[in-house]
Amino acid sequence: MSDRNPSMDAATARASCASRRNVGVPVVFFDTTLRDGEQSPGSSLNASEKLEIAHQLARLGVDVIEAGFPASSPGDFAAVQTIAREVRGPVICGLARCTEGDIRNCWDAIKDAERPRLHTFVSTSDIHLQHQMRVSREEIVRITREMVRLCVSLCPDVEFSAMDATRSDVDFLAEVLAIAVEAGATTINVPDTVGYALPGEYAALMDRLYEKIPALESVVLSAHCHNDLGVAVANTLAAVERGATQVEVAINGLGERAGNAALEEVAMALVTRRDILERPCNIVTTEIARASRMVSSFTGHIVQANKAIVGKNAFAHESGIHQDGVLKERTTYEIMRARDIGLSESDIVLGKHSGRHALRAHLAEIGLHLEGPELDEIFRRFKETADKKKEVTTADLEALVGEELRQREDVYSLRHVYVSTGTDIISSSQVAVCKEGKEHSGKAFTGGSVESVFLAIDDAVGVTGKLLDYQVRSITSGKDSLGEVRVVVEVDGRRYAGQAVSIDVLEASAKAYVRALNNVATGREAGGARGDRLYL
Ligand code: KIV
Ligand code: ZN
Repeated sequence: MSDRNPSMDAATARASCASRRNVGVPVVFFDTTLRDGEQSPGSSLNASEKLEIAHQLARLGVDVIEAGFPASSPGDFAAVQTIAREVRGPVICGLARCTEGDIRNCWDAIKDAERPRLHTFVSTSDIHLQHQMRVSREEIVRITREMVRLCVSLCPDVEFSAMDATRSDVDFLAEVLAIAVEAGATTINVPDTVGYALPGEYAALMDRLYEKIPALESVVLSAHCHNDLGVAVANTLAAVERGATQVEVAINGLGERAGNAALEEVAMALVTRRDILERPCNIVTTEIARASRMVSSFTGHIVQANKAIVGKNAFAHESGIHQDGVLKERTTYEIMRARDIGLSESDIVLGKHSGRHALRAHLAEIGLHLEGPELDEIFRRFKETADKKKEVTTADLEALVGEELRQREDVYSLRHVYVSTGTDIISSSQVAVCKEGKEHSGKAFTGGSVESVFLAIDDAVGVTGKLLDYQVRSITSGKDSLGEVRVVVEVDGRRYAGQAVSIDVLEASAKAYVRALNNVATGREAGGARGDRLYL
């Protein structure tokens, strides 16, 4: 990375952070993409996708993966257990409410990990105590002591979170956190659950907690910030400046409501402004772009173009003055290089004549290990794509593999779709959908081509979905790019998401819609609907 960025006045900036704690101490990256991120409205990852993301998080160098919330559903339990058994390197953490049932269930899910962590939480703000939990402060103190002790009796690595910490009475918050430390918690997390704090305020809270609880110096102090006011990353960095030793972050800033602090932004701030922040981390920044693409493709949450670090425009210079400057000397308008986050100028990888072996080797190189029928299917899709498209890029392959992973638990599959459409004519569609080897056909005539495809699928499957959201994006540039479609469908008052890729956006639309109906069949609702299960 370049050292040519001059510091504005490092001495002045450092002076404003006088008496800083933990200078030079590495920041622990706790990734919650698979837990808080999965609570983003509209998300629904299956077990294979979660496992693939967890492997990528390990390659990215995160220290802790919060793999899920096992008590929220049997599916989440199974996904957390698989990740605990298969992913090596990072600590594997599971979330549990402060109840004996949740904690024992969570321990069952994570106990086979190389290094398991139990994460338990309870609210400390009066708003939550009075209106939601309807318990007294004394009860919270008792629950904290007993449940942290239970966690410690099961697992040596225990994290305790005081939910809604930033709206809690600071004396009571400090009392509860001190009890958690005394009961054996090894990490103390101070969540800004509703994204209410401002950076100076959150920094001051860290200072006050360090002052009030001397024992905090002997454990990890963690920042967990939500982005409701758009300052989650600023708050997280403010906490690091005041000595926090762990940051809780998610890829692409996913998470409840407006999301969590974005991993890539916190990591690149630590790396790019290490002159001021002076806190190293283990993040392998060249894996950021791939992690971002994978999470975006699997969750269907498209990254906005002007998003810091991973947005399509993050390294693009539009103005002539900027382009001129960059051509003369890159650092005139660039503080980071695209390649620092793993973007290559040209990621064309395989030509249409490449064989199965070359494909398998390239997939392994980018961390996707496929064998047997799955590899055969990707090879078939690769050939099909290469026949229609001049160049097959890494991004195309990642999208195709994502599609293959999504199909693993499918009940329905699309056999074919025929659409007849044009200006001044009524669109008509015919589809065939397979279920357990049996073909079901459907047809529809209506105003628009996409609508006719969806109605024909409803006809074939016998379910009527109300379309809540429909998005199309291209995977790469060029008229021959693969198109990715994402739909959110409501059936019987519940929301289900689906996404798919194809060279043809009508085919991608049909597959995405069938995928959403698969989620109806398997009862896998889009995230957000499960948020309420977080509470006691
Ligand atoms: O935002 C929050 O308070 C949380 C806790 C469960 C840690 O996500
Ligand atoms: Zn949260």
